[in-house]
Amino acid sequence: MIESTFPVHTEGQGLKPDFIDPNFYQGREIPLPKPAENLYERDFTQLSKKRKSGRAYSKVTMTQKQLSHILYYSYHLMEDTRVHLPVPTACNGRSLRLYLCILNVLDLEKGIYKYHPKNHSLFLVQRFSDAEEDLQAIFLKQNFLLKASCLLALGAHLPSASYKYPSEAEKFILLEAGHVGQQIQLAAESLNLASCPVAKYDQALADAFFQAEETPITYVFSLGTRGGLG
Ligand SMILES: Cc1cc2nc3c(=O)[nH]c(=O)nc-3n(C[C@H](O)[C@H](O)[C@H](O)COP(=O)(O)O)c2cc1C
Repeated sequence: MIESTFPVHTEGQGLKPDFIDPNFYQGREIPLPKPAENLYERDFTQLSKKRKSGRAYSKVTMTQKQLSHILYYSYHLMEDTRVHLPVPTACNGRSLRLYLCILNVLDLEKGIYKYHPKNHSLFLVQRFSDAEEDLQAIFLKQNFLLKASCLLALGAHLPSASYKYPSEAEKFILLEAGHVGQQIQLAAESLNLASCPVAKYDQALADAFFQAEETPITYVFSLGTRGGLG
C-alpha cells in the first residue's frame, strides 16, 4: 500500500472553530493596499484561455498592490450583502490558512508571513536574509521557485474541516485548496503575472519552514513577474 505524504488525522465531531482565531495572528500587522485596478485582462473567457503555469520569473519586483489583488480575490473574507469568501467551503468550515514566503516584493522584508483574511493584512512570522538552501531542500530542487517574488502556501486547519463530518475532512480540505488555487492562478493571470501550482515538496520541511505544523501545507503557489517564455 502506498502511504500518503499528507498527514491527516481527524478527531471526532466537535464545535465549529473560529475562522479568525486571534491567537493565530500575532506580531506585527502590515495592512495591504487596495487590490489592483489596472488589470491586464478582465474578461473571464480570455482569462480562462490564457491561464497556464509559469515557471520563468524576471527580477522585476512584485508590488504590494499586485500581491493584495491576488490575496483579495483568493481568500479575502468579503463583507458586502453577506459575509463570504471568493471560494466555496464545505459546511462553511473555511478550513484553509494562508502563509507567504516573501522573496521580492516592494517594501516587504524577506520572510514568512500569515495572511489575515478579514483584515486583509499580513502578520510577520519570521524574517530571513536568505532562504535559498531551505527552499532547495523543501521543494526537492525545483529551482525555478527560488526566482519567484513570493510563495503562497495553503495550510490545512483540520478542526475546521472535520467539525461536522470528520470522515470527509481530508476530501473537503483538498477540494477547497483546489478552489483557492484556481482563483490564485486567474488573479495572477489578470495582472499578467506568472504563477505555478506546486504540490511536490517535503511535507515535514515545508511545515517547519512556514511554521505551519498545526496546519499542514497542502498546496503552494509560486508567483512572480514574467520572465523568458514564462
Ligand atoms: C495538484 C498539482 C500539483 C502540481 N505540482 C507541481 C509541482 O510540484 N511542480 C511543478 O512544476 N508543477 C506542478 N504542477 C503544475 C502542472 O505541472 C501543470 O499544471 C501541468 O503541467 C499543466 O500545465 P498548465 O498548468 O500550464 O496548463 C502541479 C499541478 C497540480 C494540479
